[in-house]
Amino acid sequence: MADSLFLGLDVGTSGVKAVLVSPSGEVRASATTPLQLSAPFPGWAEQDPLDWWDASVASIRAVRSHAPEADIAAVGISGQMHSSVFLDRAGDVVRPALLWCDGRTTEECREIERRVGGEARLRDLVSNPALEGFTLPKVLWLRNHEPEAFRLVATVMLAKDYIRYRLTGELATEPSDASATLMFDTAHLRWSREIFDAMELNASLVPDVGGSSDVLGHVNDAGAAASGLLAGTPVVGGGADNACGAAGVGVVVPGEAVASWGTSGTLLAPMSEPRVDPGLRAHTFCHVVPYAWYLMGVVLSAGGAFAWYRDQFARELAGDPDIDRKLDDEAASVARGAEGISFLPYLQGERTPHRNASARGAFLGMSLAHTRAHLTRAVLEGVCFALRDSLEILRSVGFTLNEVLFTGGGARSPLVRQMLGEVFGIPVATVNREEGPAYGAALLAAVGAGAFPDLRAAGLATLRRNIADAPSVPAHREYDAPYARFRSSYRA
Ligand code: XUL
Repeated sequence: MADSLFLGLDVGTSGVKAVLVSPSGEVRASATTPLQLSAPFPGWAEQDPLDWWDASVASIRAVRSHAPEADIAAVGISGQMHSSVFLDRAGDVVRPALLWCDGRTTEECREIERRVGGEARLRDLVSNPALEGFTLPKVLWLRNHEPEAFRLVATVMLAKDYIRYRLTGELATEPSDASATLMFDTAHLRWSREIFDAMELNASLVPDVGGSSDVLGHVNDAGAAASGLLAGTPVVGGGADNACGAAGVGVVVPGEAVASWGTSGTLLAPMSEPRVDPGLRAHTFCHVVPYAWYLMGVVLSAGGAFAWYRDQFARELAGDPDIDRKLDDEAASVARGAEGISFLPYLQGERTPHRNASARGAFLGMSLAHTRAHLTRAVLEGVCFALRDSLEILRSVGFTLNEVLFTGGGARSPLVRQMLGEVFGIPVATVNREEGPAYGAALLAAVGAGAFPDLRAAGLATLRRNIADAPSVPAHREYDAPYARFRSSYRA
């Protein structure tokens, strides 16, 4: 096992990342292939699963080229949650996937509530409300709006499961992604027969559910020819990107929490039972550890909002590899509270706390005295405030969070780390690894290959926490008024 490596893959929204991890947790190679997002109408968001596959293969080949002699003992895949892959009987993609941040399915959410007999019943069945981003409303949208395409659909699956299918030929999923479809009885860990009946959908549309760290297939000849992996390499169940991101920083047991700042932003806290937020503002999903769940608040545009802002308002820095640091420096030159400017990051609507797919972004409070630096700061603060909304919800349902681990692109910025700590008023820590969900997926592969007895042991053996400073209390207080302004702006 000492010479074996584990391949972790993350099918994200902005790119597919591959990492090769040694049994001691060292990252031997890492490569990311960028992806484009198509937004043909406001609120829509699509990607073609074939682009995910091409980017996956490119990233796998890139890391292989750094370690050509390496024996890859197992593969783990993580991916964006909820996004709908529609396959026909031959396993071909029927149409582009509707993504987790696509908001076109409001009508279908109401249809789901009608069909099951109300939101309370839905919560009993699947532990979650009908939200536009989830998978089931997308299936109904296809049936309602593209019936010819719907008639072709034999399988509905998730992003990472499609990549495993292309590598191994096996149709499968696992609880962390299944629980985020709205078709899975999250509390009892099985597909919900009641949901399929109420929707008049055939339960054979969804694949069997295996374990996240169980081997669910082996690379077949076609997968090997495309990816350069050896035929026969085991591929584990893997998991939803947020669950794998938590695993990638060692957040797998109750009492801990992780904030992530990727295209979306999330705050996730593991639980040993499937508790539900009475207001249904946070989601209840399965973790990648057996019989563990988590409660999670989701900000639809976190890094996505910053990327949009950067691309639209900092065009003179386009192509500069230092663009994010330069914008951070600008933001750091402005005092806390951005001198009165608030930014609402609801560019694709918002899940937590508003559950409103038609909410939209806004800058508020601008005057002639303001510069771009104020706007830049306001964008970063707006995302931190949106994440604080999730923190307040977790607190209100009884979670005591004394520290939060931080992962994703935003966690690499010292300014953002400090800002989030100050806005939260608790220490924000990082670990010695920055590879996020891809790293968590590699740890799942390592567990599946027998290198560790379980994910907790894998994390303890490979991750080291960096000590987080407690944020300054006066700095936290300075955010009280801007945060209150942020909250009241949405209602206004
Ligand atoms: C979570 C969610 C996003 C995606 C991002 O519910 O929709 O965080 O998983 O890839």
